[in-house]
Amino acid sequence: MIDPRTSIIKKRFSNIKRIIAVTGWKGGIGKSVTASVLSLILSKKGKSCGLLDLDFTGASDHIILGAKNIFPKEEKGIVPPEVNRIKFMSISFFSDGKAVPLRGNNVTDAIIEMLAITRWGRLDYLIIDMPPGINDTALDVVRLIDKTEILALTIPSVIAKDVLHRSLELYKRLKVPIIGIIKNNLSYLKKTGLHDIPYDDKLEAALGFPDKLLKTKFSRSLENIMSPLLKL
Ligand SMILES: Nc1ncnc2c1ncn2[C@@H]1O[C@H](COP(=O)(O)OP(=O)(O)OP(=O)(O)O)[C@@H](O)[C@H]1O
Ligand SMILES: [Mg+2]
Repeated sequence: MIDPRTSIIKKRFSNIKRIIAVTGWKGGIGKSVTASVLSLILSKKGKSCGLLDLDFTGASDHIILGAKNIFPKEEKGIVPPEVNRIKFMSISFFSDGKAVPLRGNNVTDAIIEMLAITRWGRLDYLIIDMPPGINDTALDVVRLIDKTEILALTIPSVIAKDVLHRSLELYKRLKVPIIGIIKNNLSYLKKTGLHDIPYDDKLEAALGFPDKLLKTKFSRSLENIMSPLLKL
């Protein structure tokens, strides 16, 4: 069956120059801080930027950005509210602070609905915070938004490295461009060929405060990594 919403989705994304999905194949490895801080960096550099939190069970970008008392407006669809000049859309707006118990087809349906109703307008960048793993959400995003590029995150662990390789293979097969692979050093630093973000013991205290976040070691490292990759 053809879902009429998929053609609306194409229209909704037609005025966005680049769409970057921040993915990683494990939970708790820094995808959300990376997606949120990258949006802050882009907005600080004068780019128009949107942030879409697609982690249905663990939406957390609103906490990282300290977004309080904001809500999307209904106007021929849904207009995302702004946080630090970032257009921000999250399932958390609709879940009343509770985890959303969605499975299989329901996840796909909720994603299609959110992509179809959100009016981003003109954007230089849309950053998508993905849930862990290559699952329905990941495949749906790639299928529904054909401009998607991947920014992959990993951590210094043998198991994570193995999963990373297998997942990168899959994205290559699906012909989705991978713009960079970042190793987030949650525990210790060991040199590899990947872009490194060091462990930052001040990061946790900065969560919820965009200005403080931009001054962290984490943000400076991410800016150094992303500036050449995105030609900022
Ligand atoms: N380089 C770092 N230094 C210090 N703390 C970090 C670093 N990277 C991430 N963290 C912390 O680790 C925790 C998990 O990060 P985050 O929520 O971004 O992970 P995630 O991959 O999005 O998790 P999930 O899979 O649950 O969505 C956060 O509290 C964050 O502040
Ligand atoms: Mg997350």
